[in-house]
Amino acid sequence: MPSKERMLITGGNALEGEVRVSGGKNTAVAVIPATLLSDEPCTIENLPDIEDVRALVDILRSLGAKVTYVPGEFMTVDPRPVEMQEVGYRLCQRLRASYYLLGALLGRSGRAEVYYPGGCEIGSRPVDQHLKGFRALGAQTEEVGGRITVEAKELKGGDVFFDMVTVGATINVMLAAAKAQGTTIIYNAAKEPHIVDLANFLNSMGAKVKGAGTDVIRIRGQQYLHGANYAVIPDQIETGTLMIAAAATHGDVVIHGCIPTHMEALTAKLLEMGVRVSDSDDAIRVRSMGGHRAVNIKTQVYPGFPTDLQQPMSALLTTARGTSIVQETIFEQRFKHLDEIRRMGARVRVADRMAIIEGVPQLYGAPVTATDLRAGAALIVAGLMAKGVTEIYEPKYIDRGYDHIEEKLRSLGATISREREE
Ligand code: EPZ
Repeated sequence: MPSKERMLITGGNALEGEVRVSGGKNTAVAVIPATLLSDEPCTIENLPDIEDVRALVDILRSLGAKVTYVPGEFMTVDPRPVEMQEVGYRLCQRLRASYYLLGALLGRSGRAEVYYPGGCEIGSRPVDQHLKGFRALGAQTEEVGGRITVEAKELKGGDVFFDMVTVGATINVMLAAAKAQGTTIIYNAAKEPHIVDLANFLNSMGAKVKGAGTDVIRIRGQQYLHGANYAVIPDQIETGTLMIAAAATHGDVVIHGCIPTHMEALTAKLLEMGVRVSDSDDAIRVRSMGGHRAVNIKTQVYPGFPTDLQQPMSALLTTARGTSIVQETIFEQRFKHLDEIRRMGARVRVADRMAIIEGVPQLYGAPVTATDLRAGAALIVAGLMAKGVTEIYEPKYIDRGYDHIEEKLRSLGATISREREE
């Protein structure tokens, strides 16, 4: 059902000042389910205050876990009372990462029943590799009535060869393998920063995970995992979105608390466009005087250009001088935001998985609709650049993954607010 909220942006203000990035969404949504593998309570810090995290709290509580959650501070999960192995349909629909309950519950109790997840509509998002991975660990898998059941009498380490690099399946198999008997080797593993962060969290509970961040991950399963206190890494995609917003408004912004080495693919492209980017250990400064040059983008697995930044980046390119070609190689339908930005005056052609963007001097505010999380981020970038007022409908998608984005942008000088329609 369409929500009655909308975000309002009056564009044209240069973003200026300093801002702190929140903890990583895609790390948080893996680390929170991983607490179920522990035999003692775990405390997680630096979690972003976002809808996906709130949904996971509800899921863990529905399973019987004792969860204390103070948004912006910490979450303590005591998984010991958990006896349930099934996650309800409505809860699964709330986020994509509900599928991590498959790996986490399989590892914990040898059985999991989860509905096909909800989350952002960015093309078909099969889970065949996740299931193939579980089968390699000795589990039986069944898909009936939109429900996935995985079950193993004895979960045993095994060799898993993924047909493609997949973040979700790599994480899911790591979760289950952490408690399997023997050693699991994942070949063609994803290398994203949050894979490394999950491995660090698992190891902090006493798991034996090696090679995270490379193509081959080895996991020696443990019978007992102890409690841990862990802080998740900063959000790579929020950092990138703020960098793009700073460039888009010809601003001067310092982003604190980030990891600059995670941002290299984006930094290289911004430099190529004529944006000034400098960094220190945990901060990035982005300055722009405008006059951006068009660049070509091809999304790739880490350390390539992240698909999650393709959408905000292509919004920025709509006003760059010249023609930019953007190729989306990870997801089938990740250009819906460009249909919306076209309403604002952008000149864009989309052919299959390629967008050809001819830069225009100026975008103009218009009513637009977010169709997924990063499409929402792209519309924010477009709204900040545009002349006049942009109304973004369905901001609920943005709330899935951006922690207090309006407050952060307002603190940098943006004119942005939220209204409920009467
Ligand atoms: C994760 O999605 C992220 N989601 C996405 O973040 C991100 O865009 C994506 O990784 C790529 O980095 C979470 O972490 C919750 P994949 P995921 O498995 O795990 C195909 C955001 O905006 N595939 O790496 O779903 C798949 O269709 C989001 O924060 C299979 O064919 O991505 C895609 O083409 C959205 N079979 C490709 O692999 C499978 O079993 C990569 O998907 C699994 C994947």
